[in-house]
Amino acid sequence: NPRNLQMEESSGLQQVNCRAKGGSAGFRVAILGAAGGIGQPLAMLMKMNPLVSVLHLYDVVNSPGVTADISHMDTGAVVRGFLGQNQLENALTGMDLVIIPAGVPRKPGMTRDDLFNINAGIVKTLCEGVAKCCPKAIVNLISNPVNSTVPIAAEVFKKSGTFDPKRLLGVTMLDVVRANTFVAEVLGIDPREVDVPVVGGHAGVTILPLLSQVKPPCSFTPEETDYLTVRIQNGGTEVVEAKAGAGSATLSMAYAAVKFADACLRGLRGDAGVVQCAFVASQVTELPFFASKVRLGRTGIAEIYPLGPLNAYERIGLDKAKKELASSIEKGVSFIKK
Ligand code: NAD
Ligand code: LMR
Repeated sequence: NPRNLQMEESSGLQQVNCRAKGGSAGFRVAILGAAGGIGQPLAMLMKMNPLVSVLHLYDVVNSPGVTADISHMDTGAVVRGFLGQNQLENALTGMDLVIIPAGVPRKPGMTRDDLFNINAGIVKTLCEGVAKCCPKAIVNLISNPVNSTVPIAAEVFKKSGTFDPKRLLGVTMLDVVRANTFVAEVLGIDPREVDVPVVGGHAGVTILPLLSQVKPPCSFTPEETDYLTVRIQNGGTEVVEAKAGAGSATLSMAYAAVKFADACLRGLRGDAGVVQCAFVASQVTELPFFASKVRLGRTGIAEIYPLGPLNAYERIGLDKAKKELASSIEKGVSFIKK
């Protein structure tokens, strides 16, 4: 039906524009790495989000198929696909929010830092595109190692004169999602009622759940505290080992990414009291980046909250987290500076 559906051929890639009702209001969102394990379910869930009016799906492989597939969903967002480096600029132009899950995932036996050599270059290239084509967009960075890729992104933006610390957020939402789930299991309550702040970073001991600040207020035995802290810190490795070489968390990550992206969009819309944890440029500690609770507003991060009172267990955890974080941050910064 030509009144509702416009098909275009552009650089060999079929673009599908659904001019459905509701497609005009809302935000423009790009997913970079949209054909991947995270990218595909993330694209599907973002197509279902009523705050999204335009959804750009970019990848270096397979984005035409994913785009054609997702575009048949009868929701409001207009979906467009972009394939390969020479379509990156078109994918990014005009975007309000850019979500980046591009890059290789871990296999058993690897740390997130083992992904640095490949993913650092991918993140650099994609962020150069953001700096050029949508410097005012909010960036949600998922690619690992997040503790280094966020500093890489910041350096790329600084180099191009576009860095706004309020708009760059490393996605640590999956740590919170896992913490809520595991704490709810121990307490025997519904995970939707639980809120666990998880601070620090997104790798091993840098993932620091603040179990003394769980809502609803509760207490844990030393054994429960140990069990929960270790399980939350190793949640990613638990999935990597269960997948046995087929990748890392994708479905729970897509869920977490959408929860976080939705919070960013609600902030942009002007909703009050939107608070999530994220890895951001921060003065909460002496480190230049740190994950903690942030309030999201019309221009990105409106407020970064202090850590609040920590117990002795958490203070020891914080010291360990800061040591590892300092070197991961430095590694990211010097990748661009050198
Ligand atoms: P995947 O291999 O399934 O998908 C990655 C996608 O990125 C692929 O489609 C690939 O073609 C694409 N890609 C590669 N180079 C690209 C480039 N230059 N431009 C655009 N796209 C490119 O991997 P996945 O399971 O989706 O994981 C992606 C990343 O997310 C990994 O680095 C993984 O470690 C990370 N991750 C982070 C979290 C988190 O909590 N932050 C959670 C899970 C996974
Ligand atoms: C996760 O926490 O699941 C991701 O960071 C992927 C990984 O490598 O563990």
